[in-house]
Amino acid sequence: MRRTLSDLLKMKRNDERFTMVTAYDYTSAQLVERSGIPVVLVGDSLGMVFAGHETTLPVTLDEMIYHCRAVVRGARSALIVGDLPFNTYPDADTGLRSAARLLQEAGVQAVKLEGGREVCSIVSRITRRGIPVMGHIGFTPQSVHAFGNKIVRGKNIDDARALLDDALALQDAGCFAVVLECVPSALAEEVSAALAIPTIGIGSGLHCDGQVQVWHDMLGLYTDFVPRHVKRYARLAELIEAALKQFDEEVRSAKFPAANTGPRVKASVVEQLRAERVEA
Ligand code: KIV
Repeated sequence: MRRTLSDLLKMKRNDERFTMVTAYDYTSAQLVERSGIPVVLVGDSLGMVFAGHETTLPVTLDEMIYHCRAVVRGARSALIVGDLPFNTYPDADTGLRSAARLLQEAGVQAVKLEGGREVCSIVSRITRRGIPVMGHIGFTPQSVHAFGNKIVRGKNIDDARALLDDALALQDAGCFAVVLECVPSALAEEVSAALAIPTIGIGSGLHCDGQVQVWHDMLGLYTDFVPRHVKRYARLAELIEAALKQFDEEVRSAKFPAANTGPRVKASVVEQLRAERVEA
């Protein structure tokens, strides 16, 4: 049975922490499924970690639909949330159309969008149509050019108040959960206590109801850049690189494939072929 929004609400009420992790393809979705992690985010971070763009801005709705479809096929019991990419919810009508496409064409159960009070009319339009929405405040990568290097939000009283007001407004607009990205831990604790819906933190300390990590970060698929809030639970880049080097070395030294392991053909067939070549 697939996880539902009410499972998350129940966990919040029972003070049970939970996890969400990103997945962008069928293979990773299957692995998440086997781990028992209850929520999968097909994040527009795929624009950076999967496609190699510098920001999430170039990601299109069609690309999100393609990736969401693969994840939906791989994860049968997790709740799957698909990101609405940049400029796919500039107003309520467009936002509703984009969200509906993610549900209808890709089969996700919920969408996520970035922003606070300024997106609440869009959120309520979408949720009133029965499409669950996850909010995302704090650092919002789709606004990277507006905020520049200022990653941590809510450090002074005005910003802190604004963040709390944004969270409460998103809840009132119908969000079933809110991601808090790079919010000071003490402020994330206050926001989590003020909301009846779960908060899901990334770089926001210990006191959120859930925690989300990006697949490539937490599994150590990148070695050059590791954000401060990431914990690498594995070092897959090193394992994969070693395996690839071993494959290359074994082919060059004729250790792989092992002798006599391929499909067989009768010796007479090869002999005849050889004889024909000699005659020619
Ligand atoms: O796109 C994404 O992966 C996200 C998470 C970092 C929360 O929004």
